[in-house]
Amino acid sequence: MAELDRTRTEVDVPGDWTYASAPESRDIVRIADSYGYYVGGEWLEPAETYETIAPRDEEPLAAIGQATAEDVGRAVVAAREAFADGWSALPGSERAKYLFRIARILQERSREFAVLESLNGGKPIKESRDVDIPLAAAHFFYYAGWADKLEYAFPNRRPRPVGVAGQIIPWNFPLLMLAWKIAPALACGNTVVLKPAETTPLTALLFCDVLRQAELPAGVVNIVTGDGRTGAAIVEHEDIDKIAFTGSTEVGKAIQRHVAGTGKRLTLELGGKAANIVFDDAALDQAVEGIVNGIYFNQGHVCCAGSRLFVQESIYEPLVAKLERRLTTLRVGDPLDKNTDVGAINSAAQLEKIQELVASGVEEGAEIYQPPCVLPEKGYWFVPTVFTNVAQSYRIAQEEIFGPVLSVLTFRTPEEAVEKANNTPYGLSAGVWTEKGSRILWMAQRLRAGVVWANTFNRFDPGSPFGGYKESGFGREGGRHGLEPYLRFDE
Ligand code: NAI
Ligand code: MG
Repeated sequence: MAELDRTRTEVDVPGDWTYASAPESRDIVRIADSYGYYVGGEWLEPAETYETIAPRDEEPLAAIGQATAEDVGRAVVAAREAFADGWSALPGSERAKYLFRIARILQERSREFAVLESLNGGKPIKESRDVDIPLAAAHFFYYAGWADKLEYAFPNRRPRPVGVAGQIIPWNFPLLMLAWKIAPALACGNTVVLKPAETTPLTALLFCDVLRQAELPAGVVNIVTGDGRTGAAIVEHEDIDKIAFTGSTEVGKAIQRHVAGTGKRLTLELGGKAANIVFDDAALDQAVEGIVNGIYFNQGHVCCAGSRLFVQESIYEPLVAKLERRLTTLRVGDPLDKNTDVGAINSAAQLEKIQELVASGVEEGAEIYQPPCVLPEKGYWFVPTVFTNVAQSYRIAQEEIFGPVLSVLTFRTPEEAVEKANNTPYGLSAGVWTEKGSRILWMAQRLRAGVVWANTFNRFDPGSPFGGYKESGFGREGGRHGLEPYLRFDE
């Protein structure tokens, strides 16, 4: 016995199992002091600039141009010339070559893009490396494949390009949203003026170097930077044929009002308040993983985030207990650390919005749970949060929070689940967790949402159309459906 005790004390068993830091090196990324606008294959000097920062510690990264209506005008002229000077008449197989090149270069430079995306936007490197950048490349590969097959996608309909597309994208998936917009536009023979979000311009600006490498003809893609004023200048420009917007419902509505009657084509991908519905026959541990992925992925800055969890009453207690336990294992911190699960909130403004809505939840009477968590001192952070005891009327059950905040509600019957899930002005996505295939189909037919995930959540594929009902917008991106907004079929 004494012998055994002695060997035991000699074995060096660590008592502390917390993760050591595992930072991704940022040496691979070169950030210039300042950036202009990429117009007609050249860089234009901005007259006015603002600073873009790293949300993890507010480090200034670069001076970014605030494009005026004249700058936007130059970009539109370049896009129009490129459209008329050959791009729109190029055989689809030739356009495809450029798209394949872009896809391959994105893959080759994927680590560089991933590091820059996490630095400028705050998302965990694990996600930019494994989700954002590979999916962005996949979109270019996918639409490259369609470029010479448009006649087969729309038989007997003479598909032709629309012209110059003005594209305005948000900050939650900067490079991926750029790919969703640019890949189908180019595949269909259009040219583009794109504006990244003001807080996350750097990967779009690095993408201009990919275009140079791919030898894309000058003016086919033009990138201008700036805030909502630049976006409005794009929307208002008379020589733009089509607007594609992803962002808030508020701005989407303003754009729709402006475009009405102008003949401009429009697609809108706006907010959401998705229901993630768990039935009592679901595999609970898998469901918990899906719930966590649904709302804490990308700090909840996801338009299709599963922000309303509906749990069948009979499993409410065990499910919430498992979920809260799982939350204690989430690692919140440096986006560039390879072990980080939840990174930095994208901006001070977004953090303020989250704080305000969470305070309203407490005020209205919901019960808040936040795991013990040490947040970095600098930068923008929010602890993953679960609200229980939530009534349908609370603001946290109705408004898009766009942060790592989950509201838990309950239901008894499938009919009640459908009714509560559809009781929202939005309709972008939904999730259903059950062992019964017939119930999945029954639910999917009744849920008013563009995407319904079954026993999974936040799964994306370029071949699958994505888009909303009601105030989540209209038009589809991805798949064959995603070609249609960039084509006209008239004579
Ligand atoms: P936003 O809608 O203001 O910004 C999205 C893009 O639109 C940015 O590029 C911005 O510069 C541009 N923009 C702003 N005002 C414009 C205007 N008048 N005309 C044309 N373009 C304009 O979204 P914001 O303020 O960054 O976020 C506010 C809320 O919107 C978030 O808390 C979230 O709830 C929601 N949102 C939803 C997104 C989605 O993926 N559906 C993405 C970003 C935000
Ligand atoms: Mg805004």
